[in-house]
Amino acid sequence: MRVMITGAHGLLGQKLALAFARETGDELLLTDIAPRTFFINKRFDYQQLDITQLSDVKSLVSAYRPDVIVNTAAMTDVDGCEEDKLAAWRLNVDGLKNLIIPARRIDNCRIVQLSSDYVFNGRTGPYDESSRPNPVSYYGKSKLASENAMLESPVGGIVVRTQVLYGAGYEVRQNFVAWVLAQLEKGAPFRVVDDQRGNPTLADDLAYGILKLVERGAGGVFHVSGPESIDRFSFAQKIAEIFGFDPGMISPTSSAEIGQAANRPPDSTFITLKFEAACNERLSDVTRGLERLRQQLRDGATHTDLLSDSRFF
Ligand SMILES: NC(=O)c1ccc[n+]([C@@H]2O[C@H](COP(=O)([O-])OP(=O)(O)OC[C@H]3O[C@@H](n4cnc5c(N)ncnc54)[C@H](OP(=O)(O)O)[C@@H]3O)[C@@H](O)[C@H]2O)c1
Repeated sequence: MRVMITGAHGLLGQKLALAFARETGDELLLTDIAPRTFFINKRFDYQQLDITQLSDVKSLVSAYRPDVIVNTAAMTDVDGCEEDKLAAWRLNVDGLKNLIIPARRIDNCRIVQLSSDYVFNGRTGPYDESSRPNPVSYYGKSKLASENAMLESPVGGIVVRTQVLYGAGYEVRQNFVAWVLAQLEKGAPFRVVDDQRGNPTLADDLAYGILKLVERGAGGVFHVSGPESIDRFSFAQKIAEIFGFDPGMISPTSSAEIGQAANRPPDSTFITLKFEAACNERLSDVTRGLERLRQQLRDGATHTDLLSDSRFF
């Protein structure tokens, strides 16, 4: 298969590149908005691609003729989306539509579109794939619109909803776990909200789950996240415990107190049985996921596969 990944410099994009390289013999084209890449492993081809530029997307997709496009490129800053709605829509919705347009002309080309628990309002969970979305933020609205564009298009699509993504990658945006670890390392007490709850998801696991869905020829919506629901404060305490810090450094606060620009769903717990039954896989729970991350960071093994040219040959 020819597999094209957009947003490949992001956390999930990096993990997808590694998972497909390790587990498959697929041809891989990595793309991102950056003009140059840090991927030097010869297993990966790289092309700059801004998915908001329709003519560039058309040229690349028509020339490469991928069997699968995994679209991870997105505006993921939830408060940023609230503040610049136009930019959020252009990237999160129009970007996907730009991929669908040339993909329609390629026989059997499929698209995996990443979506989010933020399509739900967080008051009526736990949520399975048939639950009714009702986003409370502009980010969530843009993600829901992208799901609808995908599912209504003639291109075969998998919509993968995930949440509380964490992991270590090369120059990636800060995720919740990385932020908590940075605070713990500073050594001063800090506060974390206890009124936002969801299923933490190790990015490595999510990438593997997406690969399994692609291999099985799945279609439609899937909730792919860790199996365990936990509030952010308790999750932060667990991070402290597993990484050898004092959980007592962290105290609880509320969403109202910290005043984020965008509303968050209070409890967006996922039911993940559809994915688990389809793929016969279960992602790491909180303890196992954090232990795997700790091991990766200890081994210094998180970036070497992307940056070295010695593996996969
Ligand atoms: N992170 C979470 O907790 C979470 C939760 C639920 C769902 N998701 C979804 O999962 C997907 C992957 O998330 P992630 O955390 O891996 O995201 P990420 O780390 O922010 O990666 C996104 C990548 O896309 C690139 N990009 C930005 N604008 C682009 C454009 N116009 N064209 C092409 N690439 C562009 C970014 O480059 P720059 O860094 O240079 O902008 C970045 O490398 C997203 O669709 C996100 O909405 C994430």
